[in-house]
Amino acid sequence: MATVFITGGHSGIGLECSRQLAARGVDLVLAGRSPQRMQAVAEELRTVHDIDVVTVELDTSSLASVRTAAATYGSLIERGAAAPLQALICNAGGRFDGKEKYSPDGYELTFATNCLGHFLLVELLLPAISADGRVVFTASGTHDPDTMDGKLVGAAVEPRAVELANDGLSGAKPLPAGKRYSTSKLCTVMYAYELARRLDRAGSAIASLAYDPGSVPETGFLRNMPKAVQWLAASSLMQSISTYIGVTTSTVAFSGAALADLAVDKRYATVSGKYFQAREGKLRRRQSSKVSYDEERARTLWNDSKRLVGLRSEEEPAHLRRRSGIEPEPQKNNVLSGDEFTGRMM
Ligand SMILES: NC(=O)c1ccc[n+]([C@@H]2O[C@H](COP(=O)([O-])OP(=O)(O)OC[C@H]3O[C@@H](n4cnc5c(N)ncnc54)[C@H](OP(=O)(O)O)[C@@H]3O)[C@@H](O)[C@H]2O)c1
Repeated sequence: MATVFITGGHSGIGLECSRQLAARGVDLVLAGRSPQRMQAVAEELRTVHDIDVVTVELDTSSLASVRTAAATYGSLIERGAAAPLQALICNAGGRFDGKEKYSPDGYELTFATNCLGHFLLVELLLPAISADGRVVFTASGTHDPDTMDGKLVGAAVEPRAVELANDGLSGAKPLPAGKRYSTSKLCTVMYAYELARRLDRAGSAIASLAYDPGSVPETGFLRNMPKAVQWLAASSLMQSISTYIGVTTSTVAFSGAALADLAVDKRYATVSGKYFQAREGKLRRRQSSKVSYDEERARTLWNDSKRLVGLRSEEEPAHLRRRSGIEPEPQKNNVLSGDEFTGRMM
């Protein structure tokens, strides 16, 4: 029986995905920061589908919480109380409007929640993933400034981890929330591609995929917006207008099921390093934004993220260790090194 670890699997697109996986007999690890809501979903899935469900507390904006969650699952595996993972789905995330906020580690909250937490989780859980397993990253079409999705939300800026983590702290004008979000999703796509390249170089058969679930107004995604905006976004009129002007529209049922397919369906076992999009009832492989294919930028994003999360060399999974002659040493770029990357930088 396969086991899938999903962040944010108790609500929205993640919940639909969890239900779909449970219906296929897949055991689940629900990881999130709302224990009561996760327990309620776990009970439902156990009762309806007779599967095993483990819940793990995880706040992706907190590096300490990510480390604790990964260690908790690792020790369950060691004790034989949990199985290796067929897939890790990095799905939790959000857009944070209003004045910029900072994570417990001092990093801008959008980048910390959507990017750094999942980056560290992937690094720490890779050893728990089966040899033929998968990592699926929920990104967003908003990452691409050449699409209507990207234009409406705000064009993504350069995927520079250090600047994004410190957005608003240097005295410069902070990015608007839409751009913080679209850029975090650009980084997510680039993490997926860079992970795919690193796994491939290391001879691993684990696949790494990026996914755009499309614009899905029925979820809690707009919860920080005024009620009138939420109501309007979910109206059938707005859905029709969105589709007409070229927004990538989908439903929570379809996008959740498509995410489940990407995690466990055999059709997606050999498409590592690719980007998929749910749109009007179809899941298709698509091109992502031009910049997302830039390998130099992706390598820098990866190495800077490693320093920002304070990844210790003993934490780095064997799958991803640098092999001589394959990858250049990470640059000591900007002004940052060592411990400076584990906290807020002014
Ligand atoms: N809906 C859309 O139109 C759309 C479009 C493109 C991409 N997406 C992406 O799809 C994914 C799922 O979003 P959704 O639409 O299903 O919205 P949602 O219903 O709000 O689900 C978001 C999930 O992320 C979790 N989450 C947020 N911050 C977290 C944190 N710091 N630690 C742990 N969990 C956290 C939430 O947990 P809590 O319940 O504890 O808040 C919730 O379970 C997100 O990555 C989103 O960016 C959504």
